[in-house]
Amino acid sequence: MRPKPGYDFCEVLPIFLGPVENESARADTYNFGIGDIRGVPGYEEILTEALGKALTKVAQYLVRLPGQQGFAPLCNRLAQVHSKISSRAFSSDDVLLTEGGCSAISIALTSVLEPGAKVAYAVPAFPYWCMLDAAGLQSVPIPFYDPHEYAATYGDRLRKTLETDTDVKALILNEPQNPMGFPLQQSQLEIIGALAAEHDLKVVVDDVAATFAFRTEQWSARHISPDRCFIVGSFTKQFATPGLRLGWLIPPRPQLAAARSIVSNLRGGVSNVAAFLGWTLLEYLALHGHESIIEEEVRRRVHETASLNEVQSSDVRFWIPGQGLYLLGQTQGAGLSSSTELVSSVRHEGVRLIDHTFLFPPECRTGNATRLFRLSIGGEWRVRQGIGVLQRALRGRR
Ligand SMILES: Cc1ncc(COP(=O)(O)O)c(C=O)c1O
Repeated sequence: MRPKPGYDFCEVLPIFLGPVENESARADTYNFGIGDIRGVPGYEEILTEALGKALTKVAQYLVRLPGQQGFAPLCNRLAQVHSKISSRAFSSDDVLLTEGGCSAISIALTSVLEPGAKVAYAVPAFPYWCMLDAAGLQSVPIPFYDPHEYAATYGDRLRKTLETDTDVKALILNEPQNPMGFPLQQSQLEIIGALAAEHDLKVVVDDVAATFAFRTEQWSARHISPDRCFIVGSFTKQFATPGLRLGWLIPPRPQLAAARSIVSNLRGGVSNVAAFLGWTLLEYLALHGHESIIEEEVRRRVHETASLNEVQSSDVRFWIPGQGLYLLGQTQGAGLSSSTELVSSVRHEGVRLIDHTFLFPPECRTGNATRLFRLSIGGEWRVRQGIGVLQRALRGRR
């Protein structure tokens, strides 16, 4: 059926994308599964007010390709954002706009590595193995089954990996690590910085959750020297707008030209619409004093996870207090054989979690790994109530 003249095209949006989150949330369903940040009070109103006029203005620029530099005012803002996070001085010229953080990670690695090169990272993790596969690179996952062990020994484990696998050329460092939930100890960060220099590793700092590092005062990648450090940021997390598909990459200066040429020659750059809206949003947030709105809401939710203490049982344990968006949990004892069983059982009660298959690459999905699962507070603003339902669901299993 063709729309008739006068038809309201906007009616199609909710049919395909669904209602916006606050309206769609069913009172008895708690989404601790997705990693995106949703339901920040007042944020939808801010987006509508900040971007309404910008949307009407940007349409005419769809007839132009984005410039080689991306959108300079946005690059400038992001340089300021990351200078603040890292205490390193960046300028607009250092920032490349990308289609989200995932794309920034691929561009960083492909700009500097030969096909088939090996890249190490700790797991459980965001699915880096998919990005590496697609880029023709090899994964070297370093598995952990306990976040305390990760926090206290990652540097030492990385040293052992580099001794046995001398072909590793790069490292992805995600701090706070999705979904480990525990910050690396200072000693381990120092070891990682020293190992990167000793083995001449490129380090992709997946910094998308940098602003949620509530239990560390300093930037986690401070020991990685700037000449090997690729910084990745994302609107998905930092500004709760995954639909913009907007991220950024700050490569080391010597690698800037190679990364820029991938962005402009192979990818064509980000959409003019996304870049302009992203910039308008950041200006609006700054102008109206809302720069910390996401951070404050995440902090509130993190605070509410304290009630997970009451959920610890003979079947399940959580590592708390987590940092930022994620908490790792583990099924234990004979009651539950794997996290997949737990996830499907509580889903019937209206609570969504993520099982180990999303957190480990296929070759690591055995033994202790199969007991791990992730709880995210990104998509769920009713944390305390949701945890209460989870608790009842677990009690009901016995
Ligand atoms: C750890 C981590 N890195 C990178 C990303 C990439 O996000 P995007 O490509 O949506 O910007 C995410 C998104 O959830 C993430 O959790």
